[in-house]
Amino acid sequence: MKTSGSGAFDPDIKIRTATIDDLPAIFHLGEKVFTPKDVSNLYRTWDEYEVTSLFNTEPEYMLVATNGKKKVVGFALGTVIEKRRSAWSYGHLLWLGVDTNYSRMGIASMLFDRFRNLMEKAEVRMLIIDTQADNEAAINFFRNKGFVNPIDHIYMTLNLENQ
Ligand SMILES: CC(C)(COP(=O)(O)OP(=O)(O)OC[C@H]1O[C@@H](n2cnc3c(N)ncnc32)[C@H](O)[C@@H]1OP(=O)(O)O)[C@@H](O)C(=O)NCCC(=O)NCCS
Repeated sequence: MKTSGSGAFDPDIKIRTATIDDLPAIFHLGEKVFTPKDVSNLYRTWDEYEVTSLFNTEPEYMLVATNGKKKVVGFALGTVIEKRRSAWSYGHLLWLGVDTNYSRMGIASMLFDRFRNLMEKAEVRMLIIDTQADNEAAINFFRNKGFVNPIDHIYMTLNLENQ
């Protein structure tokens, strides 16, 4: 792990599969990192049901990063999408978040590498991620991990309060 992060350096980061006891910590960390200012779409769709449903359906693809005090400081949550009547299967990394006190220490990188490893074992053929076009940190991160072919996808909003 690198030592150049902006937060306190912790040499004892571990990546492991999430357990039921991690769910509140994952949810609350998500509330901190998916902010309306920086990632409004992620903010809108992040809630406790997202975490509990993924734990119900695919707990094996829920990873956490813990610090030396065993506190959850990052998570990666994904799913495998099987296409009916097709050999194609996709690994969708749905949520990736790291506590800002632990930014740029390589924690998301460790989480992603473990997720990728799980997807390879599941014989997934393609990994997918999606994020906002202005989320430079995430786009830079995924480019560095080898992701290519970004496709624009437009989200629009209609505020019904002012109609
Ligand atoms: C994006 C995010 C997961 C990165 O987590 P992280 O642990 O800080 O990332 P890493 O330390 O593993 O970074 C690895 C590389 O990604 C890129 N990167 C990460 N954060 C970056 C930033 N803020 N700006 C530019 N590049 C960045 C860099 O290339 C970095 O390597 P470097 O530090 O040697 O330059 C984290 O900033 C985050 O939780 N963001 C809010 C939630 C989000 O947008 N999630 C992604 C979509 S679900």
